[in-house]
Amino acid sequence: MSDLPLRVWAVIPAAGRGERFGAGRPKQYAELRGRALIEWSLAPFLARADIAGVVIALVADDPDWPRFRPADSRLIEAPGGAERAASVGNALDALAERGAGDSDWVLVHDAARPCLDPTDLDKLLERGRNSPDGALLAAPVDDTLKRAVGGCVVDTVERRDLWRAMTPQLFRFGPLRQALQAAAASGIAITDEASAIEEQGGRPLLVQGRTDNIKVTRMADLALADAVLAAREH
Ligand code: CTP
Ligand code: MG
Repeated sequence: MSDLPLRVWAVIPAAGRGERFGAGRPKQYAELRGRALIEWSLAPFLARADIAGVVIALVADDPDWPRFRPADSRLIEAPGGAERAASVGNALDALAERGAGDSDWVLVHDAARPCLDPTDLDKLLERGRNSPDGALLAAPVDDTLKRAVGGCVVDTVERRDLWRAMTPQLFRFGPLRQALQAAAASGIAITDEASAIEEQGGRPLLVQGRTDNIKVTRMADLALADAVLAAREH
C-alpha cells in the first residue's frame, strides 16, 4: 500500500457520433448558450481543485475539439472506441499510464450532459466515497410504465423500485477497469459503468440527483438544456 493520498479523476466519453441527434456534426459540439455543449459538461469538473486530471475520449483527428479545448493543464486526451464502454476503457488506460492507483476514484460523465449541477457532484462525491461499490446519480421513475407487444399494452410495470441512471458515476479505478475489461472479454453490452460493476456482483449506491441533469440525445433536448441553464442564470 502506498501512502499517497487518493486522487479523484474524471473521464468524459466524447467519441460518439450523435446519430439520434442528427446534426451535421456530433452533438457534443452543438452550440448551447454561446458555448459548445461539451464545454458545459466539462465545466463542473474543471471548476474543482480536487480533480487531478480529466480524460476526454475523442474520435481520431476530431476536427472540432481543438477549437473548444479549454486551456487547463489537467486535460488528457484518449482515443475513442467503437462503443461507449470502449471509449471509457481507453480513457482508463490513459489514467493507468499516468499512474492512477487502484484505490483512486474515477468519475465518469457523458459529454452529452451539460446541465450537471455542482451541488449534485458534491453530493455524489461525498456519499459515493463511503460506498464500497461506488455510486451514481439517479432519479426515481415518476411515470407509469407500460410493457408493450406490437405497439399495444400488455402490462403495467411496477415502478416503485425503478430508477433512471444518470452520470456522473463514481467508482474506484482498479475495480472499474477490471469490470469493464471483464465485460469486454465476455461480450456483455454495457451502457453505463454501474452495469459493469453489477456484472461483478457489486451494488453501486443510488444517489438521488436533479432530474434536469438531462442527456442531450435528440435535437429537441437541446432546447430543454438551454432552458435549464437559462433558469440557473437567474
Ligand atoms: N460515446 C463515446 N464513444 C462511443 C459512443 C458514445 O465516447 N463509441 C459517448 C458520447 O460522445 C456521449 C456518451 O458516450 O457523450 C453517451 O452516448 P450517446 O448519448 O449514445 O451519444 P452518441 O453515441 O454520440 O449518440 P447516438 O447513440 O445517438 O449516436
Ligand atoms: Mg450512442
